[in-house]
Amino acid sequence: MARAMDEGGLTEHRRQLLSGLRGEVVEIGAGPGGTFPHYPPTVTRVLAVEPEPRLRALARSAAAAAPVPVEVVDGLADRLPVADHTADAVVCCLVLCSVPGPAAALAEARRVLRPGGQLRVLEHGRADAPGVARVQRLLDATIWPRLAGGCHTGRDTVAAIEQAGFTLDRLDRFLFPDTRAPFSWHVLATARSARPAAR
Ligand SMILES: C[S@@+](CC[C@H](N)C(=O)[O-])C[C@H]1O[C@@H](n2cnc3c(N)ncnc32)[C@H](O)[C@@H]1O
Repeated sequence: MARAMDEGGLTEHRRQLLSGLRGEVVEIGAGPGGTFPHYPPTVTRVLAVEPEPRLRALARSAAAAAPVPVEVVDGLADRLPVADHTADAVVCCLVLCSVPGPAAALAEARRVLRPGGQLRVLEHGRADAPGVARVQRLLDATIWPRLAGGCHTGRDTVAAIEQAGFTLDRLDRFLFPDTRAPFSWHVLATARSARPAAR
């Protein structure tokens, strides 16, 4: 599915997600490592956290071919194996839809970011169209999370980012694929934690 999405145009969105990043990056829920080929050379190291063993093994293969150093480790979004205020950026690509608690994951992102560090997010979520949002609520309350590894179609990720104490510097909303299906409503966002999160 990930390969089909990349061939269908996700690759370009991944590039935009990572464009201009530098220094030490933490990627949450890296899956099989679909972002790794697109990290710019200004990134000195990526710590890629992935809890699922088979995906972690695939990510380690992808890391070996990555253009920047990537270390793949076990871990969870709400307990990142990273010291406080040490990351220049935290990357979430199609993962805040699947974690049990986006608020806890975003609080962890604030904890590990240096002051002024960036949160970069590419996610699908809540539709702007009320009719589609109703379908999303129905899917998320019934079959979709069980069918799709915990994924929710209609989370309001932008609101969650702001509620977690980030300031948005960039927000693009777009349909991908270009249909009004429940899982098509994507956001690409850059946000800053203006001051370090309290411990
Ligand atoms: C749709 S996949 C996206 C994978 C990858 N980021 C990409 O862009 O192709 C969702 C990923 O979130 C991971 N995930 C699910 N729950 C998680 C959690 N609590 N903490 C960290 N990662 C999690 C899954 O194992 C999976 O790799």
